[in-house]
Amino acid sequence: MAEKRILDFEEMGFGMFIHYGLYSQLGRGEWVQHIDKIPKEEYTKLANTFTAENFDAKKIVKMAKAAGAKYITLTTRHHEGFSLFDTKGLSDFDVMHTPCGRDLVREFADACREYGVTPFFYHTTVDWYNPDCKNDFPKYLQYLRDSVELLCTNYGEIGGLWFDGNWWYKDRDWEEDKLYAVIRKHQPNAIIVNNTGTSARGMVGNPEIDSVTFEQGRPTPMDREGMPKYLAAEMCHTMNEHWGFGGADLNYKSSASLIETLCSCRKVGANYLLNVGPEGDGKIPFMQEALLYTIGEWVKKAGDCIYKGKPCGVLGENKNFALEADGKLYFFVHDLTIIGNENVTVAGGGAGDKLFNGVKGKIKSVKWLDNGEKLAFSQDGDNVTIDCTGYPYGTNLVVRVAEAEME
Ligand code: GLC
Repeated sequence: MAEKRILDFEEMGFGMFIHYGLYSQLGRGEWVQHIDKIPKEEYTKLANTFTAENFDAKKIVKMAKAAGAKYITLTTRHHEGFSLFDTKGLSDFDVMHTPCGRDLVREFADACREYGVTPFFYHTTVDWYNPDCKNDFPKYLQYLRDSVELLCTNYGEIGGLWFDGNWWYKDRDWEEDKLYAVIRKHQPNAIIVNNTGTSARGMVGNPEIDSVTFEQGRPTPMDREGMPKYLAAEMCHTMNEHWGFGGADLNYKSSASLIETLCSCRKVGANYLLNVGPEGDGKIPFMQEALLYTIGEWVKKAGDCIYKGKPCGVLGENKNFALEADGKLYFFVHDLTIIGNENVTVAGGGAGDKLFNGVKGKIKSVKWLDNGEKLAFSQDGDNVTIDCTGYPYGTNLVVRVAEAEME
């Protein structure tokens, strides 16, 4: 049987990722130190200008909540090795040794609790700052465990830990058992994730891992045959093409594409972890804020089925599918057009009959969730055809959800 924490995680469904660190001040992504070969002495100077004056944890958590995110995963320490938390003497390369001087992880965890959002901590495993990572690995691994222990004991109950970087030294023994034991000791309900990297999407590692990751991927249905335990799946995506703030990365996805991607994750029972990259001072870029609010408008209309809904084998044409929650079916209908007037709306064949198959049980009634309009349908065994009306003029929800009551 699946463990409760894993099922609970699946029902969170949608989370927000935050990539924030010293690199945010340069605005060229979180790998800038490595890619631009910035000498360490120069890079570490970024600590002297790190004020985080506009890092407003409450505001960020409220934004995530407005988007419909149930959890937030913050980079407490990224590959650069700088900690957003008070390392209590483990390292001088932390937020307490900057002009900011505030424990941002504390502010974040407190704000999450205040607004009922679950905090998750991202923590790098590879460390570009601490020389022990390269030269004295056993010593480094102890430092890593001590850091994680601090995160597990100093900030109340957390949703989970999200590790990233083992792929840097593929052949080394990262002593994962020891690391995860630290978490299980202090945070028995925490989800453990370890990003397998862009080239190994969906791969499973250590048996303590609770969820596979699909970084910048496409979620595929999980094949759980033969797995020693039931695992959740999570797909993380950037809004443009960088995780850390990329000031000149104008290649933003559209709100429509983000909404469709959220749906495509839930279609296969995966969570969607959508990233924001605050600017150097901690402010969330306008475009990202706007996209979050837009997704939130959609989530409000779709309601709880986006979290509770489970794949149930019902698929439609193209991207259409259905989820099941509390004995009802939720049909996700893509590419509908607006019903209007040919002088103002683009005509198209987007509305009309949509066929779904794999329906178990008999449908009693179907209605759009957003406006309650009843929809005509016919059922022949496990095939159901729903007459999907177009969007009323003034609306376009990208993906429209119809709720079906069963007999
Ligand atoms: C990667 C990158 C990293 C980013 C992460 C998010 O593995 O190294 O910068 O934090 O993916 O999934």
